[in-house]
Amino acid sequence: MDTDLYAAAHIVRPLFPSKVGVFPPSYHLVSTGVCIHYPVKASQMEVAGSDSDGREFRNADEMWREQTGDDNKKTQWYRDGVAYWEGVEASVDGVLGGYGQVNDADVKGSEAFLQTLLSELFVDSGIGRHLVALDCGSGIGRITKNLLIRYFNEVDLLEPVSHFLDAARESLVNENHMASDTHKATNFVCTPLQEFTPDAGRYDVIWVQWCIGHLTDDDFVSFFKRAKVGLKPGGFFVLKENTARSGFVLDKEDRSITRSDAYFKELFSRCGLHLYKSKDQRGLPKELFTVKMYALTPDMPKKIGRTRSRTQANRPGIIK
Ligand SMILES: C[S@@+](CC[C@H](N)C(=O)[O-])C[C@H]1O[C@@H](n2cnc3c(N)ncnc32)[C@H](O)[C@@H]1O
Repeated sequence: MDTDLYAAAHIVRPLFPSKVGVFPPSYHLVSTGVCIHYPVKASQMEVAGSDSDGREFRNADEMWREQTGDDNKKTQWYRDGVAYWEGVEASVDGVLGGYGQVNDADVKGSEAFLQTLLSELFVDSGIGRHLVALDCGSGIGRITKNLLIRYFNEVDLLEPVSHFLDAARESLVNENHMASDTHKATNFVCTPLQEFTPDAGRYDVIWVQWCIGHLTDDDFVSFFKRAKVGLKPGGFFVLKENTARSGFVLDKEDRSITRSDAYFKELFSRCGLHLYKSKDQRGLPKELFTVKMYALTPDMPKKIGRTRSRTQANRPGIIK
């Protein structure tokens, strides 16, 4: 395998091109605002997966047992994951695995998705309200700086690697002379997701991008269950992640897994989350995993952003 490509493994790994084959359509809205109930037939945990060396696992259980099957292994899994990132330069290129050039497309795609969600789920898109977001596995604060800080009055950053968090603080607080009291990065928390519990009812949006693959399935589920309590009524999660074509792909170097869309949906169901909407990220290099954005809500959301009723909007105008 090409080493440079391998270095990019954690977010955008162009692994196993022969298996990648035909990608799903690069842009599709799964729902137009109505909650989706995903029929889960056979458990996705029974689907075969592989690791970054091409070794096959019969199912996810087999892989998890081998990687994290006792307390020592699990501690080592999380230690190795953080240690990997501790060796990475605190830069956009570093947190994007050498694919810094995808930053613009990523931010553009996220912004369009966020705008849609705010307009559909928050009265007047939340304008006039004090909005607070949490950026999970924030790295150097790339997403906060390029997106969240413009939409939210406060953003908290959660990241286990201290030199990333220091870089985030430096660029968002010390260097950002444009920072204002009304749009600011407030708290910088150096903790991994599996150990984090938010303050109850603090957040309108919890953004989780390119980091959930570090969590085991059980920690994924318990993280989202705890994090739900951190949402304000009507608040939502955005999960943006690489997706495998089927089953999972284990990255042995940074100790993370890339899950399939069906695998994610099974975990959402275990978390008691509703999949409100999902969308594929466009404009990424073809060799990369498909990146999906999922909007998740604790309850069946009401669509409340619309100011004119549908009936009114559909009433034909009269040309006089
Ligand atoms: C690919 S980078 C993405 C950073 C950021 N989300 C972005 O998109 O710019 C992965 C991030 O996940 C963080 N990470 C690793 N293990 C984690 C864990 N257990 N909990 C939370 N974040 C973790 C890494 O330190 C790193 O900052």
